Amino acid sequence: MKILFVASELYPLIKTGGLADVAGSLPKALTELGKDVRVLLPGYQSVKEKLPEARPVAELTVLGQPVRLLADTVPGSETPVWLLDAPSWFDRPGNPYLTPEGEPWPDNDVRFGALCRAGLALACGRAGIDWRPDVVHCNDWQTGLIPALLSLEPQRPASVFTIHNLAYQGVFPAESVEKLQLPKVLWHPEGLEFHHQLSFIKGGIVYADRVNTVSPTYAREIQTPRFGCGLEGVLRARAGRLSGILNGIDTDKWNPATDPLIAANYDSDHLEAKQANKQALQAHFGLPQEAIVPLIAFIGRLVSQKGVDLILKALPGLLQHPLQFVFLGSGDSDYEHSLLYWSRRQPQQVAVHIGYDEALSHRIEAGADLFLMPSRFEPCGLNQMYSQRYGTLPIVHRTGGLADTVTDALPSRLGEATGLSFDHPETGALEEAVKRGWLLYGQPEVWRRLQRNAMARDFSWHRSAEAYCRLYLQAMSDRDRT
Ligand code: ADP
Ligand code: GLC
Repeated sequence: MKILFVASELYPLIKTGGLADVAGSLPKALTELGKDVRVLLPGYQSVKEKLPEARPVAELTVLGQPVRLLADTVPGSETPVWLLDAPSWFDRPGNPYLTPEGEPWPDNDVRFGALCRAGLALACGRAGIDWRPDVVHCNDWQTGLIPALLSLEPQRPASVFTIHNLAYQGVFPAESVEKLQLPKVLWHPEGLEFHHQLSFIKGGIVYADRVNTVSPTYAREIQTPRFGCGLEGVLRARAGRLSGILNGIDTDKWNPATDPLIAANYDSDHLEAKQANKQALQAHFGLPQEAIVPLIAFIGRLVSQKGVDLILKALPGLLQHPLQFVFLGSGDSDYEHSLLYWSRRQPQQVAVHIGYDEALSHRIEAGADLFLMPSRFEPCGLNQMYSQRYGTLPIVHRTGGLADTVTDALPSRLGEATGLSFDHPETGALEEAVKRGWLLYGQPEVWRRLQRNAMARDFSWHRSAEAYCRLYLQAMSDRDRT
């Protein structure tokens, strides 16, 4: 089976969030299952710098502009990747979506419209490349026009659209329809139109042969007004073709037994070595080196999705107790300032690193005792899985992928529990769960058992990659029936 995987970010070439981790590891896992997977990615400036050997293999015209496809393989894997080389759209500094001032690039419709056009050309064998996929796997709004445009092709591969985050939809003024040369037959309320605007994500949801999200719980949640971001009706209409497949994680990169980035390696039989990681982390951040004080960590984008406001509201109360906190992240400046305020006010208890730091994120996972993830919604979430693998028990709001991957340490379920969860995204509930966490931490034998349960969980990609293979087959048979 031949699969064209299209995404706007991919680790280790470019990353703003979990989509990059998935795009970096799912194609690899599919290749291991014997599939012929190739990836299409925008040729951002920084990506081209990381792949200086990428060679031009095709020239085509996209939205009136001459562009090239450069071919190489993803570093650390055998996965072939095509970069859409269009300097006027992608040779820009920094983030793939935002200007250095943090505003969306004003021509994001055209930039990702061009990515979709290039994807369509490859999918239909019109890019001058002798390879045609059976399935095009599109990810998030940046690729949403591909299933829509494909639906108009008589001879087409099947399409799968994965929603990694419904809150980002790629909605643009109606004028973009013309700018992107979109056929008028797609422009109606049951198509690409969303309240008189152009919605990229609707293109994926409405027209793909199969739609999935990155956890079964989120697949159900988005069909309700609370989580549907205005698209719950459209999603319910496709319920028969909508499913959830949990993300995996890269278990080689995230392995405390071999991780070269952490102070001391350990496994579930040698958990005492985790202590050295805690000491190193405390030393790094200038926190008192107290072994018995629970160290609670947070890593992530500082945005409301992640429940940062809940943590900030709970913090004054929690700091009355012997607890230490480490935060790593960047995002909304209000959150950044509030966290920095607490780190200055209580430097013995709160440490903050504003920024993006892959190596530090490993050291935090290894050194912390508990990991906070009170997300208001979470399509899948990766850090709660990394945490469990590192014997760092997650405290999560029971939603989306967090509900599907963390088993709450209720007294009756200690034999299988792997973390702590709470039902309502409210400060009181968060405080309560943290309190339960530190009480358990005070019982070393129970704690060890929970750590071992967590570390024994299998979050590898293998199972999920097989589920995607089944989804591709379903998409192909749905395509044949339409
Ligand atoms: P999302 O995609 O919504 O941001 P995920 O949990 O799926 O959330 O993935 C986030 C990924 O980004 C994880 O791999 C996490 O470790 C990483 N990450 C987020 N913020 C930072 C940061 N400041 N430094 C290092 N890694 C980060
Ligand atoms: C999104 C979601 C996150 C998910 C990631 C990868 O960014 O917010 O929950 O893990 O995509 O699928």
